[in-house]
Amino acid sequence: MPRPNDFSAATALEGRSILRVADLSADEIRAVLALARTLKADYRPFRDALSQRALVMLFEKPSLRTRVSFEIGFQKLGGCVTFLDHRNEPIGVREPVADYGRNLERWCDVIVARVFRHETLVGLRDHCRIPIVNALSESAHPCQALADAQTLVEHGIALESCHLAWLGDGNNVCLSLMELVAIMGGRMTVVTPAGHRPCAKLVGEIQSIAARTGATIALADDPAAIRGADAVYTDAWISMGQTDCPEKIAALRKLSVTPEIMKIAGPNARFMHCLPAHRGEEVVDAVIDGPRSVVYDQAENRMHAQNALLLALLGAINGALPSHPPVDASRSGIVATPA
Ligand code: CP
Ligand code: NVA
Repeated sequence: MPRPNDFSAATALEGRSILRVADLSADEIRAVLALARTLKADYRPFRDALSQRALVMLFEKPSLRTRVSFEIGFQKLGGCVTFLDHRNEPIGVREPVADYGRNLERWCDVIVARVFRHETLVGLRDHCRIPIVNALSESAHPCQALADAQTLVEHGIALESCHLAWLGDGNNVCLSLMELVAIMGGRMTVVTPAGHRPCAKLVGEIQSIAARTGATIALADDPAAIRGADAVYTDAWISMGQTDCPEKIAALRKLSVTPEIMKIAGPNARFMHCLPAHRGEEVVDAVIDGPRSVVYDQAENRMHAQNALLLALLGAINGALPSHPPVDASRSGIVATPA
């Protein structure tokens, strides 16, 4: 296993696209997280790492965290960013997705896209010679999962032995976390109403990964299954692009994360949410604003984890390696929060 400050395995990511967590190996994830931790401690050695590099962002859906963390993050590394708002005109309407990509690759070094159809990302990746990064599709949110992994580690929870509990809709964020836990060999309990389980085809792929790594991925419909979890995670019941459905809300109501639900998990369980939260629906104020909530650490870590990934995809790790000794972990905010 690589040492905590060893990010050499991330050099293998140069030129690759990341559309889902399963595009990364366990060693690559550990290396990206090690680099993210290094960045978080001190950006100064990396401030010119992406000088003369350009990022184009294509967003078909609204965003706060993803947009701001990519834009500010890339600029902190010395690069420049262009944002193309596709909320009123899906990518591929004015001209084919392939042509879109063939144009963009002539001007920029990496594309970050948030789309309704995962296939749009596949089209860009298959017709571009530059890396494509998924900033959320209907089936995956890999950058969120990387930031969440960084947050778990910071709070003293090892990915290889964590027990992560999911309550709510079996959505894109849930699937990316399932992939992450399956790859890292941990345990995840996904509690959803029977009709709102994650996509069966992707669950099958995730179970194949888990069979190789020794991870345990369990689907359940009773919150009692989350007993002993290190963290309880939830997300919006209706994701962007889904139609509001009163029956779905009614079915999910019993999975709202309340203090009583947190009690089932146990006294040390952290509360996690990718945000935006719908207070009073999937989580109540007492939990999200409570002492065990790490939601703003997750939001902050979006920038560090994504920046680490971008440095790796753009082959900018070695040139940016600080000449001084590895960072002191005590400066990186890696502290376990008392229960
Ligand atoms: N968590 C997340 O992706 O937030 P935004 O939708 O605001 O980008
Ligand atoms: N599942 C949510 C995540 C938002 C960050 C959505 O897709 O809308």
